[in-house]
Amino acid sequence: MELEELKRKINEDFKTLKLNLQTLSELRAQYLGKKGPIQELLLDMKNLPNEEKRTLGEKVNALKALATELFEEKKKELEKEEQLKKLESEKVDVTLPGKEINQGSIHILSKVIEEIEDLFIGMGYEVKDGPEVEEDKFNFQLLNIPKDHPARAMQDTFYVDAVRLLRTQTSAVQAHTMLEDEEKRDVRIICPGKAYRRDDDDATHSHEFTQMEGLVVNKTVSMSELKGTLLSMAKALFGEDREIRLRPSYFPFTEPSIEVDVSCFKCHGKGCALCKGTGWIEILGAGMVNNNVLKMCGYDPNIYQGFAFGVGIERIAMLKYGIEDIRTLYSNDLRQNKQFK
Ligand code: PHE
Repeated sequence: MELEELKRKINEDFKTLKLNLQTLSELRAQYLGKKGPIQELLLDMKNLPNEEKRTLGEKVNALKALATELFEEKKKELEKEEQLKKLESEKVDVTLPGKEINQGSIHILSKVIEEIEDLFIGMGYEVKDGPEVEEDKFNFQLLNIPKDHPARAMQDTFYVDAVRLLRTQTSAVQAHTMLEDEEKRDVRIICPGKAYRRDDDDATHSHEFTQMEGLVVNKTVSMSELKGTLLSMAKALFGEDREIRLRPSYFPFTEPSIEVDVSCFKCHGKGCALCKGTGWIEILGAGMVNNNVLKMCGYDPNIYQGFAFGVGIERIAMLKYGIEDIRTLYSNDLRQNKQFK
């Protein structure tokens, strides 16, 4: 076999056979292996005179080198092709529309709570928690509402037994907080949580609702600090240009007591359906902690004073987000949540 002939044959095979890396290596074994045409040439070698042995040896080496080179080249070519094929098959089309991932969303009441918490934590308040099944003592008596007090009628109560009830107001946490601290240190807390009253449910009443209580007790706190605090809250919730107005009110556990209105964020005070033409929207109750409450909870009212406030979270959420029926907040309809992602 001559070099040219070998080259022609191999190239012919490359052309006619559909090779991949596997079949290429098989073909290579056919040419270069022990039973291949090149090796065969060596078999005759033994019988040849020395002179010819050398020429034949050189020729065989040349043939081997040529075949090896051709196969190496082909191998590289095939490897490149496979690489390209792989890249092609793994290509990502970044212009395709993405798959939508179903993302949960936080409940609107939780969102409002978190917003108010952020504000008060920034003002040095601690966030407290309290039991929803509460003792009459904490929900009423320690808040200056003894048994048979007419104020109990303001809050129709779910009783569990003679002693326990579902708390009707987060104010129950006030007494817990003050009594807990044996050293009677300053208090500065907020407490968001559920409360319950035996109301008939309608668009604006729910037997289950959410409040956020605030309580500050120390030696210097004043009504003006209460007003400033509530103004900050009104601005944070409803916009920087909001104002508040205080109206005298009555709660057994605060004296004086106030009800707080915020200037209407919809009509900016001109009067609209939301504020019922008054320009003001009632948002919470508050006041200076009643001396009787301080006393019952172990704080000397001659030294200490305090303020407290209670906000209805549903009302804030409904005003802020234009929700018209309080029951939607408790319907567990996820579409409600999704709107406020
Ligand atoms: N607990 C009162 C209510 O539910 C609100 C309130 C809290 C008023 C704290 C004064 C001080 O109506």
